[in-house]
Amino acid sequence: MSRETLIDLIYLFSATTFVLALKGLGSPRHARRGNALAAFGMLVAVVATFFKFVDGHALRHVGLILLAMFIGTVVAVPVARFVKMTAMPQLVAIFNGVGGGAASLVSITEFIHIKSTHPATYVVLEVLLGVLIGTVSFAGSAIAFAKLQELMTGRPVTYPGQQIINALVGAVALGLIVTILVSGSTALLWTLFGVAFILGVAFVLPIGGADVPVLISLLNAFTGLAVAASGFTLGSNLLIVAGILVGASGILLTRLMSKAMGRSLSNVLFSAFGSNVTASAGGGVEGRTVRSGTPEDVGVLLSYASKVVIIPGYGLAVAQGQHVLRELAEVLESRGIKVFYAIHPVAGRMPGHMNVLLAEANVPYEDLIEMDEANSELQTADVALVVGANDTVNPAAGEPGSPIYGMPIIHADLAENVVFMKRSMRPGFAGIDNELLYNPKTILVFGDAKDTLTKLVAVVKAS
Ligand code: TAP
Repeated sequence: MSRETLIDLIYLFSATTFVLALKGLGSPRHARRGNALAAFGMLVAVVATFFKFVDGHALRHVGLILLAMFIGTVVAVPVARFVKMTAMPQLVAIFNGVGGGAASLVSITEFIHIKSTHPATYVVLEVLLGVLIGTVSFAGSAIAFAKLQELMTGRPVTYPGQQIINALVGAVALGLIVTILVSGSTALLWTLFGVAFILGVAFVLPIGGADVPVLISLLNAFTGLAVAASGFTLGSNLLIVAGILVGASGILLTRLMSKAMGRSLSNVLFSAFGSNVTASAGGGVEGRTVRSGTPEDVGVLLSYASKVVIIPGYGLAVAQGQHVLRELAEVLESRGIKVFYAIHPVAGRMPGHMNVLLAEANVPYEDLIEMDEANSELQTADVALVVGANDTVNPAAGEPGSPIYGMPIIHADLAENVVFMKRSMRPGFAGIDNELLYNPKTILVFGDAKDTLTKLVAVVKAS
């Protein structure tokens, strides 16, 4: 067997591990193994590439490649190990951005490399699309990172005529691609790079912080496509497969997230959602009363309960209250109370945020139920315990005209009693008031969720 065939077989093996890894990522039980499998497949592919002959020559600049890999590892490993769960979306943004940037640089190098060989038009088109998509993904991810890391405002940045200007920049980029195809000009290639950069920034600026996770998923899909384009250019089947897997799964995830928020993708991308916050951000509607209570009051409620549905949200992650929440659930279960964790698909700030958070506290997967099942359990639940969640239980989603109209919600209001654990009357990420806070069957326990849960566990244990 020739060396080339052997390396192709190794690439086929790696591509298979990527597909199996995606299957593993479909369930929390197998996600970790899936991730490890993909990493192993990638490692094998990278090692095999060192033994590949390119244009009849052994790989050159091995020292520089190893140095770049070393620097990348030294930066990425500690960042990934020590990142806080709440900062995960910006980590994904920045890692995705450098992937897009790398794909763009590969395409630029390849353009310069193949120019003198008079390549077919479609080959140059692939290269140019790689530059365009990769650079948009890089610049857009950088702005998404800055928004999530609060290095700039998380609000949509808008100005008059914005969408027309963006469309014009997009048209200029496409015009440049056509001109480069005709002229083969390297100078114009750099202009395309600059215009694509501006397009990436301009595209992301009007998207509000609440929608940034959807955007990141879309940019992720862009990076996948840019990598696939590099794969065509370099004649690497593995890059094509990996890029298309990322592209396709990114697009599917983007659609699923938009659907779970009850909004179309174009609404997410172009409506500057969050620029007109309708709620009294300081604290509820003046003149209306709410019923506030103490952990002791909630302890009494729980002592009479036979079924409790816990609805976690972003605030649980902020408070890092997942371990004490599990402790509370265990104490309740030891008293014969049925406890479920109701997981809304967009609770938190990234897909699967609550699943990962609760898995970290060793909450059994069987105790997690999805929205539809939760809504049927809530009909017979004694207490809905809403811990650091807000938009995902907001009945305003059923009111035409509301910014979150159409978003499927967990109907906490179906339970006999509703308990909210939050620090204030401030709204959730969508910035709109929650009528359920004023419902007579609701008790609000103000304070950091972890503190409140700790007190509640002590009360329940003592009763
Ligand atoms: P939110 O509606 O954002 O509500 C979180 C609540 O947690 C707030 O009401 C906040 O109130 C409270 N909170 C914050 N820190 C707290 C702490 N230390 N202790 C106790 N409470 C605390 O969260 P959600 O219900 O999880 O909904 C998620 C939102 O993000 C939705 O609007 C969704 O569309 C959006 N989103 C999610 C995703 C994904 S994929 N997950 C993607 C894009 C957008 P106080 O400030 O009063 O404490």
